[in-house]
Amino acid sequence: MLETSLKIKLFGDPVLRKKALPISKVSAEHREILSLMAKSMYEDSGIGLAAPQVGVSAQLIVVDIGEGLYKLANPKIIKKQGKQAIQEGCLSVPGICVKVKRAKTVWVQAWDEFNQPIELVAKDLFACVLQHEIDHLKGKMIVDYAPLLEKLRIKKKLAKLKEKTKTWKYTI
Ligand code: NI
Repeated sequence: MLETSLKIKLFGDPVLRKKALPISKVSAEHREILSLMAKSMYEDSGIGLAAPQVGVSAQLIVVDIGEGLYKLANPKIIKKQGKQAIQEGCLSVPGICVKVKRAKTVWVQAWDEFNQPIELVAKDLFACVLQHEIDHLKGKMIVDYAPLLEKLRIKKKLAKLKEKTKTWKYTI
């Protein structure tokens, strides 16, 4: 049985580095996971979330940049065009921002939650979020895009964050 609320996995959790498995058919359980992912995303004021971030190594993502919720299975980028660089945050790397160079427009093929094939043409922020979430399915995170010195700074900051979280866990 699934929990009613999913916990967001943080940087350092091995599930975030695993390649997510493709879905052969979106099942009722997958639909439930997608709904819970959307709930978690909204609760944490995110605009996208990938299944590995809730500990599920499957190719499922949810995205809502304020123009409607997309629940996608097996999303694939089939074409890219142009360039953009946006400061990105990630629910699994709280408090960290990395400027990531990505394509400005992407064409994405996926299935919706009822196994219907869909194709999206996404621009600007929507394109950025889709690329970010599809990266998660490959085990890639924003930290990987940071220059070396920045990476070291981020790792230090995240180590401190983990210590803090540990303390909070036992605070009643
Ligand atoms: Ni993320």
